[in-house]
Formats: sequence, structure tokens, C-alpha cells
Amino acid sequence: MKAYIVEKLEDRKFKSGVQDIEVPNIEDNEVLIKVTYSSLNFKDALSSVGNPGVTRVFPHVTGIDVTGSIEESNSSNFAKGDKVLVTGYDMGMNTNGGHAEYVKVPASWVAKMPKGISDKEIMTYGTAGLTAALSINELLSNGVTSGDILVTGATGGVGSISVSILNKLGFNVIAISGKEEKIPFLKEIGANEVILRNDFNEQSIKPMMGEKYAGVIDTVGGEILANALKYIKYDGVATCCGLTSSHELNTNVFPFILRGVRLIGIDSVEAKIEKKIAAWEKIASDFKVDTVENLTNEIGLNEIKEAYAKLLEGKAVGRYLVKIVD
Ligand SMILES: NC(=O)c1ccc[n+]([C@@H]2O[C@H](COP(=O)([O-])OP(=O)(O)OC[C@H]3O[C@@H](n4cnc5c(N)ncnc54)[C@H](OP(=O)(O)O)[C@@H]3O)[C@@H](O)[C@H]2O)c1
Repeated sequence: MKAYIVEKLEDRKFKSGVQDIEVPNIEDNEVLIKVTYSSLNFKDALSSVGNPGVTRVFPHVTGIDVTGSIEESNSSNFAKGDKVLVTGYDMGMNTNGGHAEYVKVPASWVAKMPKGISDKEIMTYGTAGLTAALSINELLSNGVTSGDILVTGATGGVGSISVSILNKLGFNVIAISGKEEKIPFLKEIGANEVILRNDFNEQSIKPMMGEKYAGVIDTVGGEILANALKYIKYDGVATCCGLTSSHELNTNVFPFILRGVRLIGIDSVEAKIEKKIAAWEKIASDFKVDTVENLTNEIGLNEIKEAYAKLLEGKAVGRYLVKIVD
């Protein structure tokens, strides 16, 4: 089968590209999936350059999310031909991932495809969409059901899908982005206002700022998240899922003790399969947005390398859908 492989060379160097390898054999409680679509995420890009926080076992196939159908099953929960979906757990980290014609995984990682959405559509959301849905679910279930929501890293995968879903749900969406030239794109997908990243940080100089936002979906961490917390209204909620700006968070306690603000962590990787299935069902129904196709660049296995370079440089816009077969 064809697969996108990362190999470790000498001197801690890595090289990656498409190769032919054997189709894997499955063991007890595993399934073999014939892949239709996968996608690209920031984490895949980190794996492709040997980032040890993501992947330590080489050679390795990247791809943290996948759709397709069961080809072989050693589990009573799945039969040949079932349409399925896998995101996260160890797939694409130290277990070979979805950038291949076939992938084998433990059956406990696998969800049946929800009704009302195709393989291709669900992979346009992929892990980024799942993370956006889990983040928005936290706002809704913690009482943030209307008002102004700030979304950071807005042109990225998680950010752009969050903007679109929040717009569909009737929120007023304020996007923060580093890309001035992408303001029209952000407005097209559902942002009511766009603030440039540097302007936002320069304006946020006091320990607390005036109350502005009912909620924040943060995908970047660092100074932007620290500043965003200062603007959250009384009883508001911020979710935190990413670190493209920084893994550090230098903040103060005022938003928490004076305004009752809650900061909620999002993990789409190890979330229980039931929680993932519930979020996928929302994506197939209430959270389904027409604009998501506009966020998507469809590529093949041979174009992954170039796309990884863009993701690593922070130059990617929207999502990359990887078509394996129809
Ligand atoms: N917790 C989870 O389960 C989970 C799941 C998925 C992803 N993540 C994490 O969430 C983050 C976003 O993922 P993604 O797939 O959306 O990534 P992505 O598509 O690469 O987008 C990241 C966005 O962050 C912004 N950005 C880039 N460099 C930045 C910098 N130096 N400072 C501030 N903003 C910067 C850019 O948007 P603008 O130019 O528009 O600002 C960029 O498009 C990543 O850290 C990823 O690892 C976590």
C-alpha cells in the first residue's frame, strides 16, 4: 500500500515522503480500515519533522484522523463494510496513522459514522472540527449561549471551524488573526469583526480590561490567551486547546476572583469515545456548516510534504483534506 512515511536519519535528522509498504496484519480486538479520507493537523506536521513530543517510534506513518470502511475485523463491534471514523488516541503518534491506504487500530478507538454526513464532509472537520465542537460544547454547557465570542488563531483549522459554527449558532464572532490579508476570508466564513493579533496585544496593557466577551475559544495560548482572559464578562468561559503562540500562560488571578471567569481545558485526543461520538453527532447536525468546504484544500498523499511546510511556518489557511480513495 502507499503511505506517507517519516524516517529517522543520522544526527537527529528526519526525511518524509510517500513509499510502498506492506498492508498491516491485525491482532485481537483490532480492525483494519480501508481509508477514504484523512486530513492534516499541526500535530501531524510536528510528527513529520520528528518532534519527540508527538512521535518517538520511526519509521512512522503520519495522520491523526481517518475515515473509511472496515476491511477486516477481530472485534464483535465491527463487521466488514461498516463506515467508520477514528481521531486521536495514539493513532498518528506512535501508532501508524491515516496517511495510507489502510490503517490498523484497536477497535476501542473506532466510532461508527454518524448519520447525515459523508466521509469527505466529516474529514473536512477532522480533529480540528472535533476540537472546535468540544470547545463550543463547553461554552454552551457552562451557560454561554449568546453574545460576543472571541476566537484566536482564527484562520487555523480549529479557529476557522469555530468561527463558522459559532456564527451558525447566532453568536457575534470576533476573530483574532495575524493575517491582515485574510480579513475578507474570515468575514466570509462568519466573523463579524476581526482584530489583528499585534493590535490586540498592544491594547491589552492593564491587569484587567473592560468586560467585552461572553466567551473565548483559544487555540494559541501564550500572551493572547493571557490578554483574552482580561476581557471576559462576569461568569464567562474561556476554552484552551492549543499552543501555536506559546505553551506558557503568564496571567493573574483577577479574572477568576473578580469576575468568576472559568478557564476550561480541551483534549480531543484521549477524550472518552462516547464524548467524541456525541460531538461527531453534533457536527453532523446542529453544528454542520455550509462554509466548511470553503475552508478546505483537498490534496493527495504526494502533496502532504508541501502542506506540512506551510503548517509549520504558520502560513496555512483553513483545513487540508487528504483524499486517499473515493
Ligand atoms: N487539545 C486538543 O485536543 C487539540 C486538538 C487539535 C489541535 N490542537 C492544537 O490547537 C492549536 C491549533 O491547531 P490547528 O490545527 O488549528 O493549527 P493551524 O491550522 O496550524 O492554525 C494555527 C493558527 O494559529 C495562529 N498562529 C500561528 N502562529 C502563531 C503565533 N506565533 N502566535 C499566535 N498565533 C499564531 C495562526 O492563525 P492566525 O494567523 O489567524 O492568527 C494559525 O493559522 C495547535 O497548537 C494544535 O496543536 C489541540
